[in-house]
Amino acid sequence: EKGGYDYFMLKEIAEQPKAVADTLLGRIGADGQLTLDEVRIPDSVLREIDKIVIIACGTSFHAGLIAKYAIEHWTRIPCEVEVASEFRYRDPILDQQTLVVAISQSGESMDTLMALRHAREQGAKVLAICNTNGSTIPRESDAVLYTHAGPEVAVASTKAFLTQLVACYLVALYLGQVRGTKWGDEITEVIRQLADMPQQVERVLDTMEPVRELARSLADARSVLFLGRHVGYPVALEGALKLKELAYMHAEGFAAGELKHGPIALIEEGLPVVVVVPSPRGRSVLHDKIVSNIQEIRARGARTIVVAEEGDEAVVPFADHLVRIPRTPVLLQPLVATVPLQVFACELATAKGHEVDQPRNLAKSVTVE
Ligand code: F6R
Repeated sequence: EKGGYDYFMLKEIAEQPKAVADTLLGRIGADGQLTLDEVRIPDSVLREIDKIVIIACGTSFHAGLIAKYAIEHWTRIPCEVEVASEFRYRDPILDQQTLVVAISQSGESMDTLMALRHAREQGAKVLAICNTNGSTIPRESDAVLYTHAGPEVAVASTKAFLTQLVACYLVALYLGQVRGTKWGDEITEVIRQLADMPQQVERVLDTMEPVRELARSLADARSVLFLGRHVGYPVALEGALKLKELAYMHAEGFAAGELKHGPIALIEEGLPVVVVVPSPRGRSVLHDKIVSNIQEIRARGARTIVVAEEGDEAVVPFADHLVRIPRTPVLLQPLVATVPLQVFACELATAKGHEVDQPRNLAKSVTVE
């Protein structure tokens, strides 16, 4: 049932192009417009939404952090993202014009369920993004957009995460489409490029051997840091989470701009630091800033592992290891940038002899608060 792979996690990483394609299937019309018929919240209600709040846990929370960038950019609706376990205890401000998006692979995370119940009690509309048909979270929501990753068996989430990102992009683009924004042309173009992402993910998977080799060489590292900016920041958090849960190693993700506010003190000779580099096209200011960050940490002895777009030559002199990812629209980059980090964590954990499908102390669905 592992389809020839040693672990479910490897199988699920490999299934990502298909999972992404399946999640897009039937949702992009022949005219290039999105049709999200299953989202049973009428367009008239969606036009009135004045705030979006995303609640989720763990990896699903990281998908939510990325969604915030897409939603605010394409819809201009303010969006907050919060770990579900914190949400209801701070008496959040919610009303009928708030759209709460609950993201959950299993549909059974108790923290997320309790948060969504609280949101509905306050009159907010709840849209679930979920991978498990008929599970509790979609049943208790006003609407659901299913991710079509197929069953995810490995405890560490991989393909479900990529499909959560796709679902979040679809929601953001759909809201942009329904409400009309100045980004109309960009939205049309991104929808077209979204359809191309399964091939891009496949291309990343085809070039992972050097990443595996690097991961094996780092099996004795004490700690690994991950840096990113913009949507690369949540990708860094996700890379660190994967390494913690699978390799039982200290790993931490930071916004690269925060380095100088403290974490740079952690940099010492030989410390591996993974840097997710934003595209040099588009918001290129960010690109230049991260190149400076890479120089700063390297000057202090860090061993830099740089994940950068094809054709980005500016990073080459400062990269001890360079991982190339395909060019994508800026906001879609997490779909390709996350994959090498998953492979890295999986391989490093395997090199340490860990059981990657069943990491210690963890359960696939967390049904206690
Ligand atoms: C990490 C992981 C967990 C889950 C979290 C939420 O690899 O799998 O962090 O993402 O427990 O689970 P769901 O999405 O089922 O609510």
